[in-house]
Amino acid sequence: MTDQEKQEMVVTPWDVSGNIDYDKLIEQFGVQRMTQSIVDRIAKHAGYKHLQLRRGVYLSHRDTDWWLSEYEKGNKVGLYTGRGPSGHVHLGHLLPWFFCKYLQDAFDAELYFQMTDDEKFLQRDDLTLEQAIEFTYDNALDIIACGFNPEKTHIFSDSDHIQHLYKLGLKVAKRTTFSTVRAVFGFNNSDNIGAIWHPALQMMVCFLQSEREGENIPCLIPAAIDQDPYWRITRDIAEKMGYYKPAQIHAKFLPGLDEGGKMSSSQPDSAIFTTDSPKKAAQKVMRAFTGGRDTVEEQKKLGGRPDICNVYAYYYFMFEDDDQKLVDREAICKSGELMCGTCKKQLAERVKAFLTDFQEKREKARKVLDDFLLKPVVK
Ligand code: TYM
Repeated sequence: MTDQEKQEMVVTPWDVSGNIDYDKLIEQFGVQRMTQSIVDRIAKHAGYKHLQLRRGVYLSHRDTDWWLSEYEKGNKVGLYTGRGPSGHVHLGHLLPWFFCKYLQDAFDAELYFQMTDDEKFLQRDDLTLEQAIEFTYDNALDIIACGFNPEKTHIFSDSDHIQHLYKLGLKVAKRTTFSTVRAVFGFNNSDNIGAIWHPALQMMVCFLQSEREGENIPCLIPAAIDQDPYWRITRDIAEKMGYYKPAQIHAKFLPGLDEGGKMSSSQPDSAIFTTDSPKKAAQKVMRAFTGGRDTVEEQKKLGGRPDICNVYAYYYFMFEDDDQKLVDREAICKSGELMCGTCKKQLAERVKAFLTDFQEKREKARKVLDDFLLKPVVK
């Protein structure tokens, strides 16, 4: 890859790479910038301000203010998010899921959690349908380990649970033209027709709770901003179908361990998977890209550069909850007092402790998996 290709920003539901310019993305995607009022209203209902809200991880949204107003009027609200099970879950995926758990508790909301095993099978040449389905149930353990409420969380596989999805999917598909999906996703004549159909299934979930409960329920989708194109189309057809437009709240990307881009399963050495042994994850952290200087002398003289440092980013996004301690770390990095080796070692210890705990929860999740799977509606 040339330096220019490395830096060029690409953000689609299937490919995120290069140096990400969030201001440009907000403009390109035509989304609304996050506001302090939204942050404060969410925190008020939750009883505290989540780390991700304090640190500006949620950069933009669509109609989250409206979704909050519906809740504040005393109306029921719902949540929807998902996962494309093409492999093991990494820390980047957990970012919006932790936030989703916070929202579920704050708003006492049902969460519909879609596993797009069909999408991954249709999009990838190296994955069989059976493997994608297997990953669905493996990844579901990670979702459960995030602490969601079993009574209010409905995890489903597009292929295994299709009987609950197909009718609504058809109605959405009928309203969506090929020219729209081609314009939004860039499909061309050599794409298989399954891949072209899949957006209908990812879109219909916005209306699934309303359909199942027989009343219109405002839906909020927490996800990183790469998934936004789906909801752009959904919002155009929602009212014609008699539903509310889905609202969204968009996260920034957790970077990978290498320079630039996001943490991605397609670069396994630069991602920390929840299934990595704590020792292996720590070794990956020790190899991470930092904002350090070439020599110790230079580092002492010029200081480190937390603004471009992925190790600092992990503290910022996930591994340092204490705001003052984060500020202190930034200061001693910039002053040249903190060396990258020490900073990485400290992070490696935190990642190890996190994974040890998360993997225990993941194992326990096996016993309760069934409680979380989507069930038929009881009329
Ligand atoms: P998938 O499996 O690519 O990603 C799952 C969720 O993780 C987010 N994400 C990240 N967030 C922060 N930092 C990263 N490095 C990072 N990498 C991925 C994604 O934005 C997503 O929220 N087609 C979807 C599955 C899906 C879905 C949905 C996702 C179906 N319905 C509704 C969100 C909302 C997919 O393949 O996600």
